[in-house]
Amino acid sequence: MTSRELDPGPLRERAVAALTAARERTRVLTGCVEDRELTAQHSPLMSPLVWDLAHIGNQEELWLLRAVGGQRALRPEIDSVYDAFEHPRAERPALPLLPPAEARGYVADVRERALDVLARAPLHGRPLVEAAFAFGMIAQHEQQHDETMLITHQLRRGPAALSAPEPPRAPASAAPLPSEVRVAGGPFTMGTSAEPWALDNERPAHRRFVPAFHIDTLPVGNGAYLRFVEDGGYADPRWWRPEGWAQVRRQRLAAPLFWRREGGAWVRRRFGVVEPVPLDEPVLHVSWYEADAYARWAGRRLPTEAEWEKAARHDPVTGASRRYPWGDADPGPEHANLGQRHLRPAPLGAYEEGQSPYGIRQLMGDVWEWTASDFLPYPGFRAFPYREYSEVFFGDSYKVLRGGSFAVDPVACRGTFRNWDLPVRRQIFSGFRTARDAEPA
Ligand code: AVJ
Ligand code: FE
Repeated sequence: MTSRELDPGPLRERAVAALTAARERTRVLTGCVEDRELTAQHSPLMSPLVWDLAHIGNQEELWLLRAVGGQRALRPEIDSVYDAFEHPRAERPALPLLPPAEARGYVADVRERALDVLARAPLHGRPLVEAAFAFGMIAQHEQQHDETMLITHQLRRGPAALSAPEPPRAPASAAPLPSEVRVAGGPFTMGTSAEPWALDNERPAHRRFVPAFHIDTLPVGNGAYLRFVEDGGYADPRWWRPEGWAQVRRQRLAAPLFWRREGGAWVRRRFGVVEPVPLDEPVLHVSWYEADAYARWAGRRLPTEAEWEKAARHDPVTGASRRYPWGDADPGPEHANLGQRHLRPAPLGAYEEGQSPYGIRQLMGDVWEWTASDFLPYPGFRAFPYREYSEVFFGDSYKVLRGGSFAVDPVACRGTFRNWDLPVRRQIFSGFRTARDAEPA
């Protein structure tokens, strides 16, 4: 969808569909466990699920009812409880949270009013409503918290509460994929000024020169990662950044989060089920430090954010950047493992139809991919509509992740989409692929 072809009818329908899909997922994630599990804290890294639920409603109220609709606060006393900047996650269980039934009532009430605002609001004139931006932003916000809630489900102990069909296998192909491809040096267009629901940190589109490099055609798999583990990778400071080595020692890390050695075999816990680690699946639940250490052990490095985006979007024939690796079509189930359709990454080599012009696979979906880059603004960045979405996180504390995981909905994931987290984080659905410099041709 480019801004030229925007017509308010389909835009409104698109916004209703995006909000409705997000709410359906929220309902599953908050309805599959008993209410007492919603108020419990399953990990100090996460909020109680009932905080996420009412926070979703509160953000929707702030932006769609108050900012767009010009309405007064429904419950002004709860704003501070659901302000993510006032209360760190570890403290949220102690807040006067709305109990589950009240939280459900609140989000339903906000949604009914938001759809009413959407039916009447002009979708042009103010940047906030242009192309239904605020509605798209709120649908993305809810889906981002749906991914956060899925992380909480993964950390939760006890029997499985969620299930999903298995992802597609890799096609049986005649010729094996090359392990890496070369991307010639030269400029490409990074970021976007055209994607109507792109968030502030993805803007504006700008030309970026990227020297020649090689990049893996697939994410690093569990089998390859296991060789690093069994080669003593976690016992050798040579591979690690000092802060990463300090974390290995402090937390006694020896493998990705949720892995355990049982007898002679490696198993992992995944949404309440213990299973053998599948060797042909992208590695999941590694920190930036682990990804960086593996790459150094392998004689390689993480791709920079610009390299990743060029590999994913640049079409060397036309010279243009695509919305997605496969082209400009919205993501479908044939392209990528997105949207919690499957509760695990797909086997390496799946989604042939989703590959980029360079023949690189599984760039979108499956696992968020750590890049070498700090989270920084693009030239010409302007915070919109609030500084706390991106701007306050810029600097050298956070590393960028690209491409999206199986847990993120397509509405909150694009070729230009930028995620970020602290380099120590491993409960997120994170993996990586590696790269290396190329000799200029
Ligand atoms: C973009 C995923 C880092 O979850 O902290 C949710 C998204 N911002 N509510 C986060 C977000 C405000 C954000 N990430
Ligand atoms: Fe939020």
